[in-house]
Amino acid sequence: MDHEVKSFYDEYGIKEWNRLEENAYSRINYLLHMHFIKDHLKPGMNVLDAGCGSGRFSIEFAQMGCKVTLLDISNEQLRIAKEKIAEAEVSHNIEGFLQADLNEKLNFDDARFDIIVCYGAPLSYILERRGEVIKEFHRLLKPNGKLFVSVNNKWGILKMLIGRQMTDFFSNPEYWMIDQVIATGDLPKHEKVNQPARHFFEAQELRALFENNGFNALKLGGSPCISCGNQANIEEMSKNSDALNTIVNIEIASYTKESMLDNGEFLLAMGVKK
Ligand SMILES: C[S@@+](CC[C@H](N)C(=O)[O-])C[C@H]1O[C@@H](n2cnc3c(N)ncnc32)[C@H](O)[C@@H]1O
Repeated sequence: MDHEVKSFYDEYGIKEWNRLEENAYSRINYLLHMHFIKDHLKPGMNVLDAGCGSGRFSIEFAQMGCKVTLLDISNEQLRIAKEKIAEAEVSHNIEGFLQADLNEKLNFDDARFDIIVCYGAPLSYILERRGEVIKEFHRLLKPNGKLFVSVNNKWGILKMLIGRQMTDFFSNPEYWMIDQVIATGDLPKHEKVNQPARHFFEAQELRALFENNGFNALKLGGSPCISCGNQANIEEMSKNSDALNTIVNIEIASYTKESMLDNGEFLLAMGVKK
């Protein structure tokens, strides 16, 4: 069990629920994650929300009539998810809650799910066994089942920090291990970063991870791309709903274009079991 990730998310608590609605930028990020998957979800489908956090996406899938199983390493996130699911009155579409570590073999039969969703970067916390985790998802999916993930993007995250004018960060590349992140994608546990160690992906790498572990990587996306690094400007412009709508339309028109993939804070990928 990855105790560091578990205690981080146990302590993070309700902040995880708020993460995707706290400002206009986050809401665009949420909307793109939903846009990426929504046409693939049909009532009655068995969906595993792997690394479900406080259940924001699970609730939406259940509202669409899917039969959702929630899995997370954090008991506290699962507790909040149970509460939010009861509030949203979608318990009839919830198949179960499982506290488990994606690093380990999961207690489900083969071919149990139509769709597995691993959104919000759970895979970025898996430093060595990423291939095994994707293989385990492959085992759990039905033939032609679909896997949707989002992970932290290496270039997008740097673009985001430039947008925040983090001069201290960029003037101390050695201390912040910027060269190491650029070369390997890995940021080990750092005394000034409260997050556990993480891996930041490139689009090409994520595509290869799918292809090498039993999936055809059919579609990738960056989320959000145009808005990444522009959080304060987006917030200001969101006071005008027409302006915000135009920005959302631009994001939707561009986020799956090959040239945009590495521009987003998150990298989305959809694969079909070979
Ligand atoms: C940023 S949250 C995303 C939650 C939700 N999927 C979303 O996108 O809103 C990441 C979640 O992944 C979970 N997680 C991270 N590593 C995990 C692991 N090895 N096994 C199971 N869950 C994990 C965390 O506990 C946390 O709830």
